[in-house]
Amino acid sequence: MIIAIDGPAGSGKSTIARKVAESLGFYFLNTGSFYRAYTLSALRNGIDPLDKDAVLECAKKTSITVRDGAICIDGIDEEANLHTSAVDKYASQVSSDPRIREMVNSAVRKIAEGMNIVTEGRDTTTVIFPNADFKFYFDAAPEVRAERRLKDQPDEDFETILRSIKERDKRDIEKATGALKIAEDAEYIDTSLLTINQVCERVIKTVRKDS
Ligand code: DC
Repeated sequence: MIIAIDGPAGSGKSTIARKVAESLGFYFLNTGSFYRAYTLSALRNGIDPLDKDAVLECAKKTSITVRDGAICIDGIDEEANLHTSAVDKYASQVSSDPRIREMVNSAVRKIAEGMNIVTEGRDTTTVIFPNADFKFYFDAAPEVRAERRLKDQPDEDFETILRSIKERDKRDIEKATGALKIAEDAEYIDTSLLTINQVCERVIKTVRKDS
């Protein structure tokens, strides 16, 4: 079974998808981590992350696997290095190359084969798994999402985070392929005023009711 969740940065997707997966005994797969891993690999190799052809060449030589839920680059667990500000800054540009998107989509579909998974990203309900058993779209006001990020990054200031969230939303929505959009058959949940547990309960209730 595939449960797919999309939504903008800071809508609570990762935290909630992970918790739902734990509750149901499913595997959790964060598709954004693949873009982050290709970005990290490019930065480590001294490649300009905005040079699309060079990033692609580097990605072709980079092996990305998932071991015990952690992303590994060339066999080494790099999960802890995927959320630095440099990776945050460039992952969205790297993810705008349709050739990189195709690589990520095939890798994700292959991993998911025959498994029960909860996956999340920007296009898991529309492009990667258009036939997912359950689809959700999480949303929240940009100010709420900025407040959430501020808790994780207390050294930053609110206005800077809010600006970067809005810029990221714009890039995610305007992407030529894999743009963030609400699938027609997705359940829309505004998480602005809900706790993590309330959202998890809502997802699990839908899944239990219809399966
Ligand atoms: O969810 P995240 O912040 O870890 O994602 C990292 C970047 O990858 C972000 O800029 C959005 C992009 N992304 C995407 O384009 N498609 C996905 N399915 C997942 C993430």
